[in-house]
Amino acid sequence: MAKLWGARFSKETLQEVELFTSSLALDQRLWSVDIQGSIVHAKMLSRQGVLTEVEGEQLVQALQEIHSEFEVSLKKGLGIPVDPRSEDIHSDIEKKLFEKIGQLAGKLHTGRSRNDQVATDIKLYLKKELNLFIEEIAELQKQFLSEAELSTEVLLPGFTHMQPAQPVSLAHHLLAYFWMFQRDKEKTFDALKRLEKCPLGAAALAGSRFPLDRHFTAKELNFSQGPTENSMDTVSDRDFAVEFLSVAATVMMHLSRFSEELILWSTPAFSFLELGDEVTTGSSIMPQKKNPDVAELIRGRVGLVYGDLIGLLTTLKGLPLSYNRDLQEDKSYLFRTLDTVRASVNLMRLMLESVRWNHDKMSLALRGDFSNATDLADFLVGKGMSFRQAHEVVGEVVQYCLRHKRALEDMTGEELLSFNPLFTEEVLTILPHQAVLQARKTVGGAGPTVVKEQIESAKLALKTLHG
Ligand code: ARG
Repeated sequence: MAKLWGARFSKETLQEVELFTSSLALDQRLWSVDIQGSIVHAKMLSRQGVLTEVEGEQLVQALQEIHSEFEVSLKKGLGIPVDPRSEDIHSDIEKKLFEKIGQLAGKLHTGRSRNDQVATDIKLYLKKELNLFIEEIAELQKQFLSEAELSTEVLLPGFTHMQPAQPVSLAHHLLAYFWMFQRDKEKTFDALKRLEKCPLGAAALAGSRFPLDRHFTAKELNFSQGPTENSMDTVSDRDFAVEFLSVAATVMMHLSRFSEELILWSTPAFSFLELGDEVTTGSSIMPQKKNPDVAELIRGRVGLVYGDLIGLLTTLKGLPLSYNRDLQEDKSYLFRTLDTVRASVNLMRLMLESVRWNHDKMSLALRGDFSNATDLADFLVGKGMSFRQAHEVVGEVVQYCLRHKRALEDMTGEELLSFNPLFTEEVLTILPHQAVLQARKTVGGAGPTVVKEQIESAKLALKTLHG
């Protein structure tokens, strides 16, 4: 097949080389933004008198036709209509243009290189995708929020070191994830800012001798911060991709942490929840099994996303200015991560929607778990004892309970009194886990009154970021 650059060569490229260098499989998804960029470039060239008005119009029209043809093929379920022998999506579209309008197609590339073209395409594509991604994270947050609204009074042990620590509400636990995803969303918004300068017009690396109007191009393509400042930086910069990959790595880490809890909490030992049949899988040998494979795969795919982040950083670290073919690999990292993280966010929402919480198991787990011990010490502090001393007294009470197989909440007033005279009758009112939770009133704490305030903050946070 004719190449965009064939004339300088007297021998055919080896097929192995063609296979090795092709990026079509990766970059074909850029077809729409690539055509969009080309349309604006053609308009700009004719506005600037580099092409005649008629040439500009013909190019634009032919490009629009090609765009429609792609759409039709996709709508019919026939996939992206590319020639598998094309080196990349840019060559493929230029070839289609040539088939339509002959030699005029060759004028489109005036003052442009695939180097600034591909950087532009990726930014345009990412902008669209990240806006969708933000919406998807918000949907997941809404699910956490609505589950939380139903469970401000549902108790379960809060853990540190995986040991029961202090009682919390299910709402409080779930809202912890709400805020993680809120930060992720903020970071994604921030990453979008680095996608607002237009690379097109940097050409191969040094700009062009043609009077390109880069401001026009940037404006027409909705780059709100205008053209990039340095053509060499422009064609070799992939910082914006690194930034997204880093956000994605954090999102996956958060999803993985919740996956781990879903897995753990759905074990028979915990039984805090049951995942819906529609999001779980069975075993080919053990008929009783219902496995949390989706959660495990999310946890598993974290490695893939971390790998992509490190992969791109490694690709970039030794690159001299300006464009080097290594940069073509950016798409492999970027698109795999994009697909993985978006699917994971969506699957997590579906999983969460399917959860049946087992409140009884949660409160059963609290029985005799000593997660009310801190409050027993706090009671003594309220009577004037230092916290360190109180810690010691309660430590002895715990040891007594363990020895006599007693739950702390079942201790009688008399028994407690035998440990310290400050244990007056009213101590019995603070010991039930429910009372412990109610007493957590500090801002951001686990008690129902402040969790209700937290829910209001969460609703406001959702609204503020989305306008
Ligand atoms: N497919 C290439 C990429 O994705 C396009 C740029 C090719 N440029 C070049 N000078 N060979 O990076």
